[in-house]
Amino acid sequence: MSRRAHKNDWHPASWRSKEASQQASYPDLEALDRVVADLSRLPPLTTSWEIDELKAHFAKAQRGEVFVLQGGDCAETFAECTSENIVAKLKILLQMSLVMICGMKKPVVRVGRMAGQYAKPRSADTETRDGVTLPSFRGDIINRSGFTASDRTPDPQLILRGYERASMTLNFVRSLIDGGFADLHHPEYWDLDWVGHSSAASEYHNIMSTISDSLDFLETVSGRQFHQTQRADIYAAHEGLHLHYEQAQTRYLDRREQWYNLTTHFPWIGMRTAQLDGAHIEYFRGIANPIGVKIGQGMTRDWLQGLIEVLNPDNEPGRLTLIHRFGANSVEEHLPDMISAVKDMDAKVLWICDPMHGNTESTSDGTKTRRFENIIGEIESAFKVHDSMGSYLGGVHLELTGENVTECTGGARGLTDADLAKAYKSTVDPRLNYEQAMEVAMRIAGRNKA
Ligand code: PEP
Ligand code: CO
Repeated sequence: MSRRAHKNDWHPASWRSKEASQQASYPDLEALDRVVADLSRLPPLTTSWEIDELKAHFAKAQRGEVFVLQGGDCAETFAECTSENIVAKLKILLQMSLVMICGMKKPVVRVGRMAGQYAKPRSADTETRDGVTLPSFRGDIINRSGFTASDRTPDPQLILRGYERASMTLNFVRSLIDGGFADLHHPEYWDLDWVGHSSAASEYHNIMSTISDSLDFLETVSGRQFHQTQRADIYAAHEGLHLHYEQAQTRYLDRREQWYNLTTHFPWIGMRTAQLDGAHIEYFRGIANPIGVKIGQGMTRDWLQGLIEVLNPDNEPGRLTLIHRFGANSVEEHLPDMISAVKDMDAKVLWICDPMHGNTESTSDGTKTRRFENIIGEIESAFKVHDSMGSYLGGVHLELTGENVTECTGGARGLTDADLAKAYKSTVDPRLNYEQAMEVAMRIAGRNKA
């Protein structure tokens, strides 16, 4: 088989010669390698043509022709791999995208943080409770959240369980899309009671009636229902943190003469694993997928330019996405430097704003939350900074759920710190609930209306 000499001896396991941060310590490395070998023989979850198609969409998003909506849980759990959850997540992404398409007057590419978002970086390797110290919980694909030594011992079998859950999730998503989920396309079926609680109610009502009118018009002229004219494709994305998992489903496709990570379409590198000489950068440089890197406070011009050189040496359009997450109070200070570092290299990148991870705070009782107004504030500032520098913000990256949780404060119903306890379900970062997520979409749609 011809495997063209590739990028200075890169291969799917070459990352193992580098230092990998945020990895679990497996007690039985042979068992781990057996799982990697098993997984490498199982069928892929995605295909190279879907991955290339997403890269082409990203190339357009870079040029301002389409907008990217990326959203989902901070961490998926195996227990929440249920039909209700998957339907709710698709529903919110689809409804948000329709609102944005109508307001922005351009296509929206939907990317779920789903079907593989099972591994989390942690600020400490261990957790101590009542004098007992155990490894930190790193996500369902690595260990279990219970506080016993056996729960917290990394278990390689969970990698296979994660692959299976990801596969079930994608399978159901694909079936729902093929079935057209017609009712979700029509605002008359949406849950919009909350709109009346907002001070922007009349603006939101206008947006909704524009959507209804546009759908009616489209259906009248085409003689077909919207879902028959528009396939609501959704792509999958997760943080490519657990390198054994990523490696196992990385395949060389002879016809394309490239390696693809076939666990997902769009893997990204977290802020905590983006060291230039680290294992994650080594792994990501060799795959052909469109890839993302989170950048936040602490990222320097040199570091960013180094990342661009290593991850996109050919300056390929659609290949590299920079997901910036500075926080509402810092974005105007730090983003211009990042944009000018990219401009100075003439680098083609897609810019996406993650208004979540720079805006996490704790309430007085220690509950992790984010304020709706800071999330909106960071998005607004990001649009402004990009506009003023002749750059283009091509998407948003959100942590959201289709359910009515109470994890972020604010929004139309004015959730307060005291409301958070009512339905706080996330074990990791606080997510926008259904209404708050829809409101973000309306604000983006409203902002871009001429
Ligand atoms: C995340 O996206 O959940 C995350 C951990 O983000 P970051 O790497 O930006 O901190
Ligand atoms: Co998160």
